[in-house]
Amino acid sequence: MSKPLVIALSKGRILKETLPLLAAAGIEPTESLSESRKLLFDTTLDDVKLIVIRATDVPTYVQLGAADIGVAGKDVLLENGAKGLYEPLDLNISRCRLMTAGVSGKAPGTSRRRVATKFVHIAKRYYASMGIQAEIIKLYGAMELAPLMDLADEIVDIVDTGNTLKANGMEPRELIADISTRLVVNKASMTMQHQRLKPLIKRLAQAVEARREGQEESA
Ligand code: ATP
Ligand code: PRP
Repeated sequence: MSKPLVIALSKGRILKETLPLLAAAGIEPTESLSESRKLLFDTTLDDVKLIVIRATDVPTYVQLGAADIGVAGKDVLLENGAKGLYEPLDLNISRCRLMTAGVSGKAPGTSRRRVATKFVHIAKRYYASMGIQAEIIKLYGAMELAPLMDLADEIVDIVDTGNTLKANGMEPRELIADISTRLVVNKASMTMQHQRLKPLIKRLAQAVEARREGQEESA
């Protein structure tokens, strides 16, 4: 049998929403992902395997060809640069916005701005494009705490309902990008495995469309 196709899934929030789409496309893990310590899983298709890894590692696995396909947030792809990847499908799940935010009612000063974020590259590019001098402070989580503790003047972070900002006395400011989860494909795999990938991507696109129609009907 030929080498199995490997799909790299982001663990956490995205995983829960990805599995029903994969199932609708005919790909289901043969055991529960959440009840296992395993990271590599067989599926109902003999020639498809799943790996479950940190979201930020997904582009790396796919770029280097250790996985043929990946599922990752556009925020992660923008931060990574996602060179050497195709992005054939918007899965339209885990939708949110990448924004700047600051303390409510406190306008940013005119001097060099201190910005706390885990999206260092995105923030650098964004502030440079706006002509704003920024000192980027890398954090790994709880960005909303940084302005409260006067570690930063502003943050760049994911905003969905806005509840996290509000609970910490902050307000959203500028939109940097609308975010959703994307399917990415290794460029060499897209060429070499085209016969196998094409129908799989098509079934996933149909699953995304069916989900969208279902949402419209229930709205
Ligand atoms: P890690 O645990 O690896 O640091 P993470 O905490 O960013 O990753 P999750 O919180 O599971 O991982 O988020 C995964 C993806 O889901 C993000 O990259 C983003 O695309 C999207 N996302 C994050 N927060 C939200 C949110 N509040 N609402 C909707 N989508 C979100
Ligand atoms: C994400 C993000 C924000 C929050 C925004 O955090 O980092 O803190 O969601 O969502 P909201 O606008 O609906 O409040 P998450 O809940 O995933 O926790 P994390 O900090 O562990 O990533």
